[in-house]
Amino acid sequence: MVSRVIPVDPFDLVIFGGTGDLARRKILPGLYRRFCAGQMPEDAAIIGAARSEMDDAGYRQMVADAIREFGGVPPGEDDQIARFLERIGYETVDATGTGGWAQLKGRMREGCVRAFYFSVGPSLFGAIAERLHSNGLATADSRIVVEKPFGHDLASARALNRTLAQHFDESQIYRIDHYLGKETVQNLMAVRFANVLFEPLWNAQYVDHIQITVAETVGVGGRGGYYDKSGAMRDMVQNHLMQLFCLIAMEPPAKFEPDSVRDEKLKVIRALEPVDPHHIVRGQYAATNGDPDYRDDVEDPRSTTESFIALKCHISNWRWAGTPFYLRTGKKLRARASEIAVVFKDAPHSIFGAEAGRHRNVLVIRLQPNEGMTLDVTIKEPGPGGMRLVDVPLDMSFADALGPDAQDVTDAYERLIMDVIRGNQTLFMRGDEVEAAWAWTDPLIEGWTARGDVPKPYDPGSAGPEDALMLMHRDGRRWREIRT
Ligand code: BG6
Repeated sequence: MVSRVIPVDPFDLVIFGGTGDLARRKILPGLYRRFCAGQMPEDAAIIGAARSEMDDAGYRQMVADAIREFGGVPPGEDDQIARFLERIGYETVDATGTGGWAQLKGRMREGCVRAFYFSVGPSLFGAIAERLHSNGLATADSRIVVEKPFGHDLASARALNRTLAQHFDESQIYRIDHYLGKETVQNLMAVRFANVLFEPLWNAQYVDHIQITVAETVGVGGRGGYYDKSGAMRDMVQNHLMQLFCLIAMEPPAKFEPDSVRDEKLKVIRALEPVDPHHIVRGQYAATNGDPDYRDDVEDPRSTTESFIALKCHISNWRWAGTPFYLRTGKKLRARASEIAVVFKDAPHSIFGAEAGRHRNVLVIRLQPNEGMTLDVTIKEPGPGGMRLVDVPLDMSFADALGPDAQDVTDAYERLIMDVIRGNQTLFMRGDEVEAAWAWTDPLIEGWTARGDVPKPYDPGSAGPEDALMLMHRDGRRWREIRT
C-alpha cells in the first residue's frame, strides 16, 4: 500500500492550554507525526499559549519531552525533533485578562491559515473567543477548535453555542469528537456507501439488532473530579457512541461533504425515541485485589455516578422501526475492545431442518484494537455426517490486508487537526447536532436522578453488571464477548 500525504497550506496554530495534558499527550505528538510524514509545510508555526511564565526555549523543551513520552518516537530522531521544534513558540497569555494578547498578535502572520485550538475547560471558551476578536487576532476565515465536553446538558450546550456564535460563524467552529477521527469509524462510511453488498440489507427487514460496545480497562484514574460530574452517559454516550450510532444508522448522504453528512446524522438523533427506564442499566466498578472501587477513585463515598452504562434504543423511522440498538460502554471492563456488530436476521426458512440449529450472519466492525472487519457466514461443516452447519468468519484485519502501512494508522487527533487546517468540517460536530444529542440525553439523566437510581456494582475485569446481560437475555439475544 502506498500512503499518499498531501501537504496542507501554511498555517499558524495557537494552542490555548498548550502546557496541558491533552496538548502534551495528543496534540503536540500528533503534530510531530504529521511533520515527520511530510504533511506540514516549511512555514507552519505552532504557538503554545497558557498562563505559565515560560519562554520559547522552555516550551520547546516541554514539547520535546512530550513527543518522546507520548509520541512513540523511536530512538535516533533527535535531528528530526530539533527541526520540528523550530516551528514552535510560546506566549504567556491570560485568558480572562489582558496580558499577552498583543504579544500573541505580534507573532501571527498575515495571509496564512489561522487556527486557535481551545484545549481548555469550557468555562474559558467565551473569554478566549471574545479576546481573539477584541484584540484583532481573529480574521474572517480563522478557525477555532473546541474540545469536549461541549456542555453538561442542553441548556449549557446552547449557551456555549450562543457565546461562540457571537464571535465566530458556524463555518469557523470545529467541535472535536475524536472518535470521528478514528480510521475505522471513517471506514464505516466507506463500507456502507462504497459497496453495493451491504446497503440493501441495512434496514429493519434484514437486521435483527445492532450492538455498539466501547469497553475500556482503565478506571477513572486521576480524572475523578471531572468524571464524577459526568459519568459514562455524558462522557461517552452523548458524544462518542452517539456518533458511531449516527454513522451506522443514517441515510446515505448525497455527498461526502460537511453539511450533507451532518444533516443525515442530525435526522438520526432527532428520530431517536426516549428510552424506557427499564432499558437502562447503570453500573459502578467495585474494588478488587487492593485496587480502590469507583467511589474511592472519585473520593465521594456516596457517589451515584455510573462508570458503566448499557441501554436499548430505537429509532422511529422507516429504515429502523422495530430494530433495537444496544449500546454499552464502561471503565475497568474485561478488555479494551470497541466494536459495532450488525446482527442479521435468520434466513426466512431453513431447508436443513431444526437440527441444523440457528445461524446468523454478523458483520463486526472492530474499532480498536486490531482494526478490521469480520463477516460471519454459515457454511457446511466439512466431512461426513450429514448437513451440519457452522458459522465461520470472513476475517479481514486491515493490517493483514493492506500491509504494514495500515498499522501505521494516523491517530484521530492528527487527522482532525489537519482537517481543520484544510478547512474540512465533515468530521466535526455541528452546533445543532450537539444540542440534539443533549436533548435526547437530558431526560434520561433527569429520569434516573428523580428515581434515585443507584448504579449496580460490577467486578473489575467483568463485562459489567449482571443486569446488563439480562437487558439482552430478556429479548432472547446476547451480547458479544468483550475481548481483544
Ligand atoms: C474520552 C473520555 O473522550 O475518550 C475518556 O473522556 C475515555 O473517559 C476516552 O477514556 C476514550 O478514548 P479512546 O480513544 O481511548 O477510545
